[in-house]
Amino acid sequence: MARAFNFSPGPAALPETVLEQARRELLEWRGERASVIEISHRGKAFMAIAEAAERDLRELMAIPANYRVLFLQGGATQHFAQIPMNIARGRKADYVLTGAWGEKAAKEAKSLAEVRIAASSAADGYFGIPPRDGWDLDPEAAYVHVTPNETIGGVEFHDTPDVGDVPLVADMSSNILSRPIDVSRYGIIYAGAQKNIGPSGLVIVIIRDDLLERIPKDLPAIFSYAAHAKEGSMLNTPNTFAWYLAGLVFQWLKAEGGVAAMAARNAAKAALLYDYIDASGWYTNPVERASRSRMNVPFRLADAALDDVFVKEAEAAGLMALKGHRSVGGMRASIYNAMPIAGVEALVAFMRDFAARHG
Ligand SMILES: Cc1ncc(COP(=O)(O)O)c(C=O)c1O
Repeated sequence: MARAFNFSPGPAALPETVLEQARRELLEWRGERASVIEISHRGKAFMAIAEAAERDLRELMAIPANYRVLFLQGGATQHFAQIPMNIARGRKADYVLTGAWGEKAAKEAKSLAEVRIAASSAADGYFGIPPRDGWDLDPEAAYVHVTPNETIGGVEFHDTPDVGDVPLVADMSSNILSRPIDVSRYGIIYAGAQKNIGPSGLVIVIIRDDLLERIPKDLPAIFSYAAHAKEGSMLNTPNTFAWYLAGLVFQWLKAEGGVAAMAARNAAKAALLYDYIDASGWYTNPVERASRSRMNVPFRLADAALDDVFVKEAEAAGLMALKGHRSVGGMRASIYNAMPIAGVEALVAFMRDFAARHG
């Protein structure tokens, strides 16, 4: 069977050329007489891969010199806990909730910090971002946490919120590298890799130097960002295969024109899909227009009884993983960097045909 257009929210589609390169290189990595998965992380060959991946990510995101880039593990979820453990133990931490992932992050932090919900759109069904002038930020908070893209609800910040001098911490799992951002506006950016970077389990943490100094010295080393930074993310055995694949994705991104080119492509893909949904009179997206995600597009059919038929027919047409998250129902098309515009065109053509036949 042929590969299909994969709209999975994560683990998500990777660029096909990256997978092909990994397959070509799998048995023996550049004269090492072993696969990249089978060589020491401390050897020269792997160190070169690791350094190149960090260098390329720094270049792609224009990460300033006073930030450390860590290649860690545990999924983004582990870092929901690790962040308060490192920089807010016993202190206040402000959370701005725009969906289910921010809610989870706040819940995980509760036993470690004094969590304050500074703003939340929960009462409105998480269909937007609470207006900035209503955020109840505490200047004493150790940080302000936001989720710039809510993967389930499809709600995205299209700017970086101004939170004054309190460090801004952002879970960018589902929109990292999808558009240029000013890293210097953030204290910590973290992201699970499985949408725009590579295999699940790997987590990229970008942390400003001064925050490393806040980290309690008695923290077990394995949880301490300072200890990981000191050891170059090799305090223990890193996920070498994921690190290698992330490096290939970064090279692919550079060859495609970098993050600015991705942003233009992502905007075009999202516009194509939202414009069709809005014009269809049959499909709907519930999110306020100004906060619609360019990465995850949830939509409903006019008749929910057709949901299963839609998913089945879409799969038969080579359009995979469109079923919405179980907590919200309906459909969701995740259209990360690796989704070509042809995939979105095929989806829109299928949706149009489906509505004509069933509407
Ligand atoms: C925005 C966001 N944060 C956190 C997570 C959790 O990531 P993980 O499963 O890697 O812990 C996800 C997973 O999809 C996500 O979309």
